[in-house]
Amino acid sequence: MEVAEITSGDYGKPTWCINCAAYTQVDKAEVEKDKAMAVNGLAPGYIGRACSMAGIKLLHVSTDFVFDGESESPYTEDQHPNPIGVYGRSKRQGEEAVMASGAHSLICRTSWLYGPHGNSFPRTMIKAWEAGKQLRVVSDQIGTPTYTRDLARVLVDMIVKDPEPGFYHAAGPDIVSWHEFAVDAIRIHAQQVIGSDESIKVTPITTADWPTPAKRPKYSALSFEKTAALGIQPMRHLPAALADFVKRQAATGR
Ligand SMILES: NC(=O)c1ccc[n+]([C@@H]2O[C@H](COP(=O)([O-])OP(=O)(O)OC[C@H]3O[C@@H](n4cnc5c(N)ncnc54)[C@H](OP(=O)(O)O)[C@@H]3O)[C@@H](O)[C@H]2O)c1
Repeated sequence: MEVAEITSGDYGKPTWCINCAAYTQVDKAEVEKDKAMAVNGLAPGYIGRACSMAGIKLLHVSTDFVFDGESESPYTEDQHPNPIGVYGRSKRQGEEAVMASGAHSLICRTSWLYGPHGNSFPRTMIKAWEAGKQLRVVSDQIGTPTYTRDLARVLVDMIVKDPEPGFYHAAGPDIVSWHEFAVDAIRIHAQQVIGSDESIKVTPITTADWPTPAKRPKYSALSFEKTAALGIQPMRHLPAALADFVKRQAATGR
């Protein structure tokens, strides 16, 4: 969307602008640096300036990948970002651009998104399991899976609360590895959709066993405490959120 459209009146005069747009291909960003920086690093600043001039408040979505993964407890908003890849650096640049734009802004960092629309990690795992593939999944990267329907609710709650500008974390309450996330998703799918209680075989592997172009934080769980202190309810626990995800996937035949 052209930034000017936000303020031109084409959509009426919004009170808030929510910027979810991003270049999100973490590995490809390592070779498409300029594109990632333009979309994630520069564009949020243009949006912020347009919002500032029009008196529109801005909710900007950012990521756990702004952190280096060296923490051993959930990242709070006041911890120092230190991204380790192009995607994370581009998103961090976008955060700084929003903060410098003069807009009244909430920067909401989230993590490990999955939802009923589009591709997602649990969907890929379930499809691979259904196809009878041997699954090997990384067990030494830890994070907080976040269900998009719950994130949407929290973002609306944030707008309703309209707290002071700054950084807020919005992620699910459970801290798991990709391996645990895969097993949970497949188990719930097997129980709910095919009525099977069979044990789920997914082989845990290390990051070194699964090399990728982009380095990823080994621990990127986000703390929800500051956001909860606004009076916003935490998101559902992983089993309940995955149960809803599986139900909606099954209903759409995806
Ligand atoms: N996925 C995750 O696990 C995760 C984790 C933490 C944070 N986040 C953040 O959450 C937000 C949403 O991520 P997502 O995973 O839902 O991403 P997504 O599915 O890739 O969606 C990104 C959206 O951005 C739009 N977009 C990309 N480049 C654009 C451009 N140049 N101009 C206008 N629109 C553009 C895309 O439009 P088209 O569909 O038309 O291409 C798409 O609708 C992002 O800010 C991301 O950094 C994601």
